[in-house]
Amino acid sequence: MASAFYNPIGTTALITGASSGLGVGYAHELAQRGADLVLVARRQARLESLAVDLAEKYGTVSTVIPLDLTAADAVPELVRDLRERMITIGTLVNNAGFATFGTVLDSNEAREREQVALNVQALTALTHALLPDLVETASLHPHAAALINLASTAAFQPVPYMAVYGATKAYVLSYTEAVSYETRASGLKVTAICPGPVDTEFFEVAQTGSGKKGTPLTVDAVMRASFSALDRSVMPSVVLVGARNAILARFASIYPRRAVLNAVGRLNTPRGTR
Ligand SMILES: NC(=O)c1ccc[n+]([C@@H]2O[C@H](COP(=O)([O-])OP(=O)(O)OC[C@H]3O[C@@H](n4cnc5c(N)ncnc54)[C@H](OP(=O)(O)O)[C@@H]3O)[C@@H](O)[C@H]2O)c1
Repeated sequence: MASAFYNPIGTTALITGASSGLGVGYAHELAQRGADLVLVARRQARLESLAVDLAEKYGTVSTVIPLDLTAADAVPELVRDLRERMITIGTLVNNAGFATFGTVLDSNEAREREQVALNVQALTALTHALLPDLVETASLHPHAAALINLASTAAFQPVPYMAVYGATKAYVLSYTEAVSYETRASGLKVTAICPGPVDTEFFEVAQTGSGKKGTPLTVDAVMRASFSALDRSVMPSVVLVGARNAILARFASIYPRRAVLNAVGRLNTPRGTR
C-alpha cells in the first residue's frame, strides 16, 4: 500500500533543469511535500518565476542558481555557493539533460561533448559532491532523503540516430543502480527514473524533425510514477514509466541484442533515410 513514506518536509531539494518540463514537475511535487528548493538551470527568468509561483502556492523558500552545468567548473562553483549559503541538500534530482538526433557521421562534435558533459559528467560530479549530504540527511531524518536520476527507456539498448543520448542514459542507469546498492544501508532512496517520450521541450531541443512518436507521457504521469516509487518502503532502484515502456525495456533485456538494435534502428530512422 502506498503511504506518504517519502517526507522531505523541512529539508532542501536541489533540482537541475528546473526551468522546463520534468524539472518543473519535480519542483511542484517537492514543494507540495514541504521541501525548500534549490532551482538550477541556465534560464534565470524562468527559475525566478517558478520560485514566485511555488512561494504563492505552497509557501516554499526557493534559491535560484542560474548556471550552465556543462561549464568546466560549474559543479564546484555550485557546491561552493551552497556551502556559503549554508544549505545542506537532502534530495538531489539530477534532471537536466538533452539529446541530439541524427547520425554520428553528421553530428556536431562540440554539441555531442556538451551532451556528455551535462548528462554524464555534471550528474556524476554533483552526485559525488552531494552524496555525503544526502546520506547524512537520511540518517537524521528517515524517509526524507533521495537521489533521483533521470535516465530513460533509451538506457536499455543502443539507440541509432541518438547514439550519444542512449549511451549517456545507459551510463545514468548503471551508475544509479550501483550507487543504490552501495548506499542501501543508509536509508537514502536512490532511483533511476526511466520514462519513454514525455511531452516537454525535449524534442524541440533534440531537433528530431519527425517529432514525438506515438502518444507521449505527460509530466504528471512521470511525477505519479516517481513519487509512488518514493513512497514505497522498499524503493525500486529503477522506475519504468508506462506499462508499454516497461514491456519494451523487458524485451530489450531478453531478445538477442542484434534484433533489438535492428528494431530500434528502424523505429528511429529519420524520414527520407533508407
Ligand atoms: N522528454 C522526454 O521524452 C524524456 C524521456 C526520458 C527521459 N528524459 C530526461 O528527462 C530529463 C528532463 O528532460 P525534459 O523532458 O524535461 O526536457 P526539457 O523540457 O528540454 O528540460 C531540460 C532541462 O535541462 C536544462 N538544461 C539544459 N542544458 C543545460 C545546461 N547546460 N545547464 C543547466 N541546465 C540545462 C534546461 O534548462 P535551461 O535551458 O534553462 O538551461 C531544462 O530545464 C532529461 O534528463 C531527459 O533526458 C526526457
